[in-house]
Amino acid sequence: MQEDLGVIAPEAPAVKIPGNLSEQTVLSVHHWTDRLFSLVMTRDPSFRFENGQFVMIGLIVDGKPLLRAYSVASPNHSETLEFLSIKVPDGPLTSRLQHVQVGDKVLVGRKPVGTLLLDNLRPGRALYMIATGTGLAPFLSLAADPEVYARFDHVVITHTCRRAAELAYAEHLTDHLPNHEFLGEDVSSKLIYYPSVTREPFKHEGRITDLITSGKLFADTGLPPLDPAEDRVMICGSQHMLDDLKAMLLERGFTEGNSSHPGDFVIEKAFAER
Ligand code: A2P
Repeated sequence: MQEDLGVIAPEAPAVKIPGNLSEQTVLSVHHWTDRLFSLVMTRDPSFRFENGQFVMIGLIVDGKPLLRAYSVASPNHSETLEFLSIKVPDGPLTSRLQHVQVGDKVLVGRKPVGTLLLDNLRPGRALYMIATGTGLAPFLSLAADPEVYARFDHVVITHTCRRAAELAYAEHLTDHLPNHEFLGEDVSSKLIYYPSVTREPFKHEGRITDLITSGKLFADTGLPPLDPAEDRVMICGSQHMLDDLKAMLLERGFTEGNSSHPGDFVIEKAFAER
């Protein structure tokens, strides 16, 4: 075997980034739990999106972009982009993405999409944004959108997780946003944050479907039970929750909305990597 003479290995050849992606720089990383983290990164000034939309993000792996869909958690008036991600030990992307550091590069798609848009809903009195797990992300973006408060008298964000430690952004919703320089007044008077936990003791316990059926959500918030004449619903989370809640809403007379026909509720599956 040849002796190591201290020759520096040539750097890996630079990978050409496809035109449908931009390369952004990580500004901060926050690990909420061993299963959940957030990334803040620079934003390409030409990147435009609507609050509630998702975009492909990822890394170069084996010389090729490896991408997954992520809802943007930051509002579209922010100079930076924020994302909330689970960590899947064997997940092709998240097993790598969870280790990125400040200064690292992350790929961001140039074409945001998604159905969780204000314009896909008919006008109403209360807007319910119902999330499980990382499904909270698009609602963080919407919660910082002044248009949400212009259109609705009440804005309810429910977030259900297995454990209390997974209730990411609780402080942001209860402390930071209500004291926000421009949004604070609207948020303080209209936003209700309703966290619930299913697998350990907490002030609100149980699946959101059960809390709606039992009426506990309404008893706790002081709002009347869901009514398609008045209420609009956005849902983002695990497929089972989406299926169950959609069936409940259809049974109560709610109609699903989309970009050509605004309706009473809209749905999106939260990012999941297996
Ligand atoms: P549970 O602990 O009773 O399964 P996950 O981490 O699996 O994505 O789940 C996130 C949250 O969504 C958990 O609190 C979980 O409750 C809840 N959940 C899972 N399935 C449903 C469902 N079909 N309807 C309502 N909530 C659900």
